[in-house]
Amino acid sequence: MPGLVVVGAQWGDEGKGKITDLLAGRAQLVVRFAGGANAGHTLMVDGQVHKLHLIPSGILHPDVRNLIGHGCVVDLEALAKELDALEPLGVGPARLGLSPLAHLVMPWHKLLDSLQEQRRGKAAIGTTGRGIGPAYADKAARHGLRAGDMRDADVLRERVLQAAEDANHRLTRLHDAAPVDGVTIADRMEVLAERFRPYLADVTEETHAALAEGRNVLFEGAQGALLDLDLGTWPFVTSSHAVAAGACLGAGVGPKAIGRVMGITKAYATRVGSGPFPSELLDETGERLRQAGAEFGTTTGRPRRCGWLDLVALRHAVRINGLDSLALTKLDILDDFAEIGVVEAYEGPDGQPGGFPADPADLGTRRPVVTWLPGWQARTSDARTIADLPEAARAYLDHVATAAGVPVTLVGVGGGREQTLMDSDPFTGREVLA
Ligand code: IMP
Repeated sequence: MPGLVVVGAQWGDEGKGKITDLLAGRAQLVVRFAGGANAGHTLMVDGQVHKLHLIPSGILHPDVRNLIGHGCVVDLEALAKELDALEPLGVGPARLGLSPLAHLVMPWHKLLDSLQEQRRGKAAIGTTGRGIGPAYADKAARHGLRAGDMRDADVLRERVLQAAEDANHRLTRLHDAAPVDGVTIADRMEVLAERFRPYLADVTEETHAALAEGRNVLFEGAQGALLDLDLGTWPFVTSSHAVAAGACLGAGVGPKAIGRVMGITKAYATRVGSGPFPSELLDETGERLRQAGAEFGTTTGRPRRCGWLDLVALRHAVRINGLDSLALTKLDILDDFAEIGVVEAYEGPDGQPGGFPADPADLGTRRPVVTWLPGWQARTSDARTIADLPEAARAYLDHVATAAGVPVTLVGVGGGREQTLMDSDPFTGREVLA
């Protein structure tokens, strides 16, 4: 079955958007299955930069249908801004659909996100402030709003007013903050609903139909394995399912609908926000990676924490996602380094060798054991096939593949579509491309 899941294998920001955009050229349907406007996917097509947060990264292909799945939380204001930029390119309900089951991020969710962060003080998660945690919490508590509530204007108004009242209870009693004005929010929601009603689509039905017809379906994740709500470095995680299993929930398919899973990793590692990061470099090498890789958040502009590629964590990501292959992005950022570090193993608090901890939160107690590989000190961004890469760069890729236990079948050497080198078709894993 030609269903391919694309997920982040680290802490997000691996370049999933870019890879999804490229692979969408071989797909008929792209379903974004998790997250919200916390994600930031930067695409560079024909020299133009597009920044997406919620809209699936296949949207720049005129013949590809893109769906925002049930597992996402949708901020209609953020979606409206994104669409404003894309509508001149012909994007409308024919190209983009929104699941009625997706929960809505409301203005109070963003307020609660920042108030909760303030209350956490030193233990703050460092969220993106996009209301993600509170929106998913409402979903789990069974009193959120869903995109499907937009279908009927009267029902929507009633639900918004009720939900605003609930939120005001929390805002004023728990956080001693000012209440929101439910009527103003309901008025605005009416306008947004008018715009987005035509986008509502049966995501489960469309996904099953496409798979049944043998079409290539791409399931696009958000964030990365170690930010997954269940499997990440909790509580320093996002509130959704970033691992491949999330594709089933977020699109409404069973595991057998997934043919292959591709994990995206950078050639090094980054993390935004708080939480353990064993390979973090707090020295000038970390700063060098940050500057060379322009490691500043797409959504918040925050400087990303940088470090060497962590092969122990990557191996773990291979297991929990069932990865078949890896796409390794930003290889060109390492072009100038004489030596490149990779974390080969961990030492536990007792100084003894230790594997990936049972609780990822314990990563903070692991000391990284770094191995050095020779750099290539040559420009890779002009390469157009993996074979074009310098020998030391290919040796680096081989080292990563051996440690991870899966092949590296895609390599990114720059922001453009033509700078992603691919040696097999990710949908089948077989066909060798010219
Ligand atoms: P939230 O998803 O805004 O609640 O943030 C929770 C954690 O996930 C924080 O550490 C964020 O920095 C991180 N995070 C959320 N979205 C992304 C992303 O797209 N890339 C990288 N980190 C993210």
